[in-house]
Amino acid sequence: MLQVKNICCIGAGYVGGPTMAVIALKNPNIKVNVVDINSDRIAAWNTDDLPIYEPGLLDVVKQARGRNLFFNTDIETGIKEADMIFISVNTPTKTFGVGKGRAADLRFVELCARQIAQLSTTDKIVVEKSTLPVRTAQAVKTILSETGNGIKFQVLSNPEFLAEGTAIQDLMQPDRVLIGGDQTPEGLAAIEALTSVYASWVARERIIQTRLWSSELSKLTANAFLAQRISSINSISALCEVTGADVDEVAYAIGSDSRIGSKFLKSSVGFGGSCFQKDILNLVYLCEYFGLPEAAAYWEQVIILNDYQKRRFAMNIIQTLFNTVSGKKIAMLGWAFKKDTNDTRESAAIYVSDHLLNDMANVYVFDPKVPEKEMYDDLDYLGTRSKDENRKLLKVVNDPYEACKGAHAIAVITEWDEFKTYDWKRIYDGMMKPAFIFDGRNILDHKKLMEIGFKVKAIGKSY
Ligand code: NAD
Ligand code: UGA
Repeated sequence: MLQVKNICCIGAGYVGGPTMAVIALKNPNIKVNVVDINSDRIAAWNTDDLPIYEPGLLDVVKQARGRNLFFNTDIETGIKEADMIFISVNTPTKTFGVGKGRAADLRFVELCARQIAQLSTTDKIVVEKSTLPVRTAQAVKTILSETGNGIKFQVLSNPEFLAEGTAIQDLMQPDRVLIGGDQTPEGLAAIEALTSVYASWVARERIIQTRLWSSELSKLTANAFLAQRISSINSISALCEVTGADVDEVAYAIGSDSRIGSKFLKSSVGFGGSCFQKDILNLVYLCEYFGLPEAAAYWEQVIILNDYQKRRFAMNIIQTLFNTVSGKKIAMLGWAFKKDTNDTRESAAIYVSDHLLNDMANVYVFDPKVPEKEMYDDLDYLGTRSKDENRKLLKVVNDPYEACKGAHAIAVITEWDEFKTYDWKRIYDGMMKPAFIFDGRNILDHKKLMEIGFKVKAIGKSY
């Protein structure tokens, strides 16, 4: 059997970094080189102040770094030395040209394939770790097969299913690992080689081997199904608010049916993160591209509902505060797209604050992990108003009590555990009255807050 001795991973991001750290930890005999064009990111990977926050990550990195795990910018050597190369670069939504706003922008993936083709002097297995549209491997294969130097490449699809905030746990005990490849003797040998890397810590029955296209499409489908559950329960939350039903009770009641299951039914201010929206838009594009408009419209509705939920939450704040938040202080707790991560990509916080700023609110944000610069970058990127205006209307503070002091309302956007432990009586005493709290995550003890005197508004609740 083909023995993997040297792995190179192109892309040291949220996926490449943690995934390779765990592979290196569990395979001390394999040298794992993580390379990236971003030298700041690589420098941070070589310190104890890692570029991404993920519980348990630093511990794993420290055990393997310098032993068989290396982070560097020397992409050329990384590619040349490796017998297996993971492509783990970003695949954002296209912002221009054909497929703008929907299709995945694959230029970074294509660039990697070209670099691999150009630099390789030995046979290699190329693994798609990035999330890619179905049939991307065909393009990768075509680029790799044009080298004319007789080097053989096998292309595998090995999508990543980790969620941010629980990446290490998800990598250590995955529900499954998915490996797709050509069903030829060479393809099957490559699948086996990658299987053996994971088999160092994952039970073989959890390693699913499929055809290339099934693996690529399963990743987009998994994300679409997960996001669809959130949009489904969020649509019901709107109905709960006007009928007196309680969304958490409904979610519990339906989730107890083992056919439905209880996970991913937590109603919220809307899902965020770098992937759900991007991957569904990509699925919509693929359906349209292959002439399936009904299937495209079906999946697009998941995104439409999510946008509606974020807008609905912001409008509820404005309408409740007597139809205007102009000049009113609104405290925003949380900016990350979910707890236990510093990632803010597509976070509901960005869109909710944008709506509030449009109505000239004074928004004060506190997040335990997100730096000020990131918040302003996120807002500036929307382009709704000038940088100066964003800085004038939105302030970032390091203390939640300061954020809430003198506020007319508090909006809870991220489900950080620490929010539950605050001295809510003290916060209430310092606020304008009536003191409103809008719980976009339903994480706080609403009964207790009401006893203190708060007017509580929450997702899918009618109080
Ligand atoms: P990221 O933006 O955090 O990291 C990607 C890295 O690739 C960046 O550091 C960038 O500098 C680097 N890069 C880009 N082009 C390069 C090149 N030519 N050479 C070297 N480095 C290059 O992205 P991410 O969140 O790690 O996501 C990567 C892929 O994994 C995406 O396709 C995403 O959909 C998928 N994915 C992400 C998650 C997640 O939780 N973030 C989970 C599963 C799958
Ligand atoms: C998601 C998937 O869960 C991963 O399996 C996948 O690998 C990853 O996308 C990816 O491809 O990038 P992630 O976005 O990191 O992971 O985090 P999730 O836990 O899925 O949360 C996504 C968003 O949905 C967050 O904003 C979260 O707060 C929200 N959410 C989640 C809800 O509103 N309700 C829920 O019940 C669950």
